[in-house]
Amino acid sequence: MIEDLYRARTPGSAKLYAEACRVLPAGLTHDSRTTSPYPIYVARADGPHKWDVDGNQYVDYFGGHGALLFGHCHPPVVEAVRRQAALGTHWGASHELEVRWAQVVQRLVPSAERVRFTASGTEASHLALRLARAYTGRPKIVRFVGHFHGWHDQVAPGGMSHFDGSVPAGIPASLAGESLLLPADDAAPALETLRSRDDIAAVIVEPSGASWGQVPLPPGFLTALREATRRHGVLLIFDEVITGFRWSRGGAQARYGIVPDLTVLAKILAGGLPGGAVAGAKDVLDQLDPAAAKAAGREKIGHQGTFNANPLCAAAGLATLSLVESGDACARAETTAEELRQGLRRVLVEEGVPWGVYGETSVFVIFPNPGRLPIDPASFDPLRLGFKGLKGARDPELNNRLRVALLVHGVDIAGGPGGFVSAAHGAREIAQTLDAFRSALRALKADGCLAS
Ligand SMILES: Cc1ncc(COP(=O)(O)O)c(C=O)c1O
Repeated sequence: MIEDLYRARTPGSAKLYAEACRVLPAGLTHDSRTTSPYPIYVARADGPHKWDVDGNQYVDYFGGHGALLFGHCHPPVVEAVRRQAALGTHWGASHELEVRWAQVVQRLVPSAERVRFTASGTEASHLALRLARAYTGRPKIVRFVGHFHGWHDQVAPGGMSHFDGSVPAGIPASLAGESLLLPADDAAPALETLRSRDDIAAVIVEPSGASWGQVPLPPGFLTALREATRRHGVLLIFDEVITGFRWSRGGAQARYGIVPDLTVLAKILAGGLPGGAVAGAKDVLDQLDPAAAKAAGREKIGHQGTFNANPLCAAAGLATLSLVESGDACARAETTAEELRQGLRRVLVEEGVPWGVYGETSVFVIFPNPGRLPIDPASFDPLRLGFKGLKGARDPELNNRLRVALLVHGVDIAGGPGGFVSAAHGAREIAQTLDAFRSALRALKADGCLAS
């Protein structure tokens, strides 16, 4: 049994989890780290690997929730952080690093005429919506089912749960009502909403499709949104927390050649430390500037945050983005990810398992076919299943079994299930991952939980 093997390899993690449950709700600090019977407890990491407290090594595709384009402990980033920690982690003052960090964002991200840093992606999406409402003077936000923009109240319904638009516990119904939650399997509902209403401030979208492309967008969707939002004076917000500096140096907008009005950034932005930003049109961001706001006849928009652009995160972010700018990390990670996706498909075919593998650029998504559909892994097309068939059909128990089976064989994936390939992953890690995937599938078969 997979679980018996897992327990036998990870007694140290089991012990820590038992202690965690006496102090942390669910023993956890992030919902997406839920693992049954318990999560691994990691002690250190390097490049594409991490090690748990029992000394087991894993090829890591959780990738700091997507923040680590260069893998763990990339020496120039470590050095920048070490140097900065000794100089001060928070000066409570303006500093050169924040200017240099914003400048590299401005050079890389097409929409970034101006940049305002925050402490996380959640904060950045919150600020982007505030700026959009103030700029347009309109109240409503168009969002898409399953698109995740952080955990704040305005974007919680329909992001990771309540896909039917119902209101999650703890969220005021009145606030939930300020968002129009639309399907993204087809652009028509969004286009019709934009045409027929005059109270919409912004449309916010994950340009990869929901959850880093677990539900890809149909061709032409983003172009249609761009044209319609422009026509109706509505701001288009790309949430590039995942895709920023990954889909290309300049994110999804540079890859697709579609420039939004505002961009929400985090993860790779801060080089593996906490940090986020809103980047975008000068006119919109200038609402944060008292003089510019006054000159434009607008009220200045408030925005604080103790850790915005603190020197430590700025040092890590600047070191990372400078490497993104000068090197080919995005392309290398993408090439490796494509080899991995092809290899995973090959293993599915060879093992006779009717699952799918897909994903764009340097991510991969595994579709473990919870509904036991007749799928040919060699030609699987996620677009045919849409939201309901993909993210909407997720079977958390099956995903967990796959994840644990892979952990037993030395590979850690994210819950999608899928993961993030870094520029530090190479042929050796791919070969090891494919072996682990084959072994995991055989173990799942033996445990009787595999569609066939
Ligand atoms: C697309 C997207 N937007 C926003 C967020 C929230 O970012 P953070 O976790 O930094 O608050 C995430 C986090 O995973 C994300 O994937």
